Amino acid sequence: MTARRSEMPISIAVGPLEDATADTLVLGIASDALVPRGAIKTFDAAIDGAMSRYAEHSGFRGKANEVATLCPAHDKIRRLVLVGLGPSDAIDLEGIRAAAATSLRQAARGGSKRVAFALFPAKRRGVEERARAMAEGIALGAYRDDRWRSAPRRVSMPTRAMLILPESVRGAAAEVKRGRLVAEAANFTRDLSNTPPNELTPAALASHARRLATSRKLRCKILAPAELKKAKMGGILAVGGGSANDPRFIHLEYKPAKAKRSIALVGKGITFDTGGISLKPTAGMWDMKYDKCGATAVLGAIRAAADLELPIRVHAIVAAAENMPSRDAYRPGDVVTTASGKTIEIRSTDAEGRIVLADALDYAVALEPDAIIDLATLTGACKVALGGHAAGLFTSDDRLAKALESAADDSGERVWRLPLADEFRRHMDSKVADMKNSGLRWGGACSAAAFLSEFVDDRPWAHLDIAGVADTDRTSGYDRVGSTGFGARLLAAYLERGAK
Ligand code: BES
Ligand code: MN
Ligand code: ZN
Repeated sequence: MTARRSEMPISIAVGPLEDATADTLVLGIASDALVPRGAIKTFDAAIDGAMSRYAEHSGFRGKANEVATLCPAHDKIRRLVLVGLGPSDAIDLEGIRAAAATSLRQAARGGSKRVAFALFPAKRRGVEERARAMAEGIALGAYRDDRWRSAPRRVSMPTRAMLILPESVRGAAAEVKRGRLVAEAANFTRDLSNTPPNELTPAALASHARRLATSRKLRCKILAPAELKKAKMGGILAVGGGSANDPRFIHLEYKPAKAKRSIALVGKGITFDTGGISLKPTAGMWDMKYDKCGATAVLGAIRAAADLELPIRVHAIVAAAENMPSRDAYRPGDVVTTASGKTIEIRSTDAEGRIVLADALDYAVALEPDAIIDLATLTGACKVALGGHAAGLFTSDDRLAKALESAADDSGERVWRLPLADEFRRHMDSKVADMKNSGLRWGGACSAAAFLSEFVDDRPWAHLDIAGVADTDRTSGYDRVGSTGFGARLLAAYLERGAK
C-alpha cells in the first residue's frame, strides 16, 4: 500500500497575471470571450499574443471543460492551460468546480507541481463564491486513490495551487478555506468508500469513526454484538449474523455550545453485500463494496460540520454489517424482531439495507432530533430510474424537501423527488409478521422508502436513495472512477444553510 495522498494547500495571491510564478497558469475562457479582455488581455500582451493567436487559429472553442496546453515564451510560467467555461451567461458554480478540476488534471499531465489559477468569471457571482467553488473543484479534482498500488503512477498530482484574484477581497480567504474543508470531507468519504471490503469490515469502519471522533472531539459510541443484543437490535444482528466480520452500530455526535437545531444523519453501512442466501449473480458483485456509501457520507458530513464549526447539533448514526451466506446466515422465511419491537418476515436476504436501517432509524427517533435524514444505496430500482444523475429523495415534509433541494443546487449533488405512498407500504403486508421485507418488483425504490417510513414515528424525515450516484465508472470533472463521495457535500450544504 503506497502512501496516502496529502491534502493540497491552496493559497491566494492578488495582482496581475503576468507577475504569477508557477509551473502552470490556468485561464478559464468563456465560449463568447475568446478574444481576451481585461487582466487576460494584459497577460496576453506579455506573452506576445500567444493566447489570442491560439484561440483564433487552433479551433479551441471554449466549450465547457475543453482543455488546451500552450508553452508561451514567459520567464515566470512554463505552461499555460486554457479551460473552456461554455457561454458566459450560463457559467455557474458547478461549472466552475468541474473546470477547475479538469484543468488541474491537464496541468498534472504536463508534470506541473505548482499551479496558478486566474479567478474564473461567472455572472452574478461574487469573488468569494467563485473562489470557494474553485477551491472545491481543485481539492476534489486532486483526489486520487493510489493506496492499493505497489508502484507510483506515471502522472503525479500537483502539490500546490494558487488562486490569483484581481483585487483583494476580505472574505475570500475564509471562503476558500471552507471550500477546501468541505472538499476534504468529501475526499475522506471517498477514501472510506473506495477501501476494499476485505479491509473495510464493520469493525474497521467503527475504528475509522472512532479516530474521526478523537481528532474532532466528537462523542463516540460503538456497539459490538453483545451490546447490540442488549439494545435488541435484531435487524442488524440478523443481517450481520452470516459473516465472520461481525456487525457494529456507530453513533457520533457533534454538539456545539450554542446549537440551534439538532439533526440525525443515518447511513446504511453494508461493507459488502453478497445478497446473502438470496445470493447475487457474479457480474457486478464487486461494486457491492459501495454498499457502505450511506455510512461513509454521514461520517464525511459530520466531519465537515465540525471543521466548519457549524452551530448545529449533528448525530451521525451508522448500521454496519456484512451480508454473507453461511451456516449462520439469516434466511428467507425467518422472522426478525427489530429494536422498535416490529417484526419482519424475511422474503429476500438481499433486501438487507432496510432491515439494518429499521434499527438505526428507531435509535435516531429516540434522540428526538428536529429532523432525520438517512442515506442508503438501497435499491437497484433507484439506479435504473435516475442513473448517476441524482439521488432519489423521499419525504412527506415539503419544507425538508425544499431545504435539501436548495442544498443540492449549492453543492451540485442533485436530488430528485419520488413518491412516498401508502400504496407501496401495503404491498409489504405479511401473513406471518408485521410486514415482509420485499414487495412488488415494480416501484422498488418506492416500496423500500415506504418500508423505512414505518420506523421514523412522526419525525420530520427524508430518505435519500444513493444507489445510482455513490460510485461512477467515469473520470470527468472532479469525479474519478470509484466513489463520488456523494452526500457529504450535499449534507454539509444543508447544515451550512441552517438545516431548515
Ligand atoms: N445494495 C443493494 C442495492 C443496489 C443495487 C445498490 C445496485 C447499488 C447498485 C440492495 O441491498 C439490494 O440488493 N436491493 C435489492 C432489493 C430487492 C431484493 C427487494 C434490489 O434492488 O434488487
Ligand atoms: Mn442487497
Ligand atoms: Zn445492499
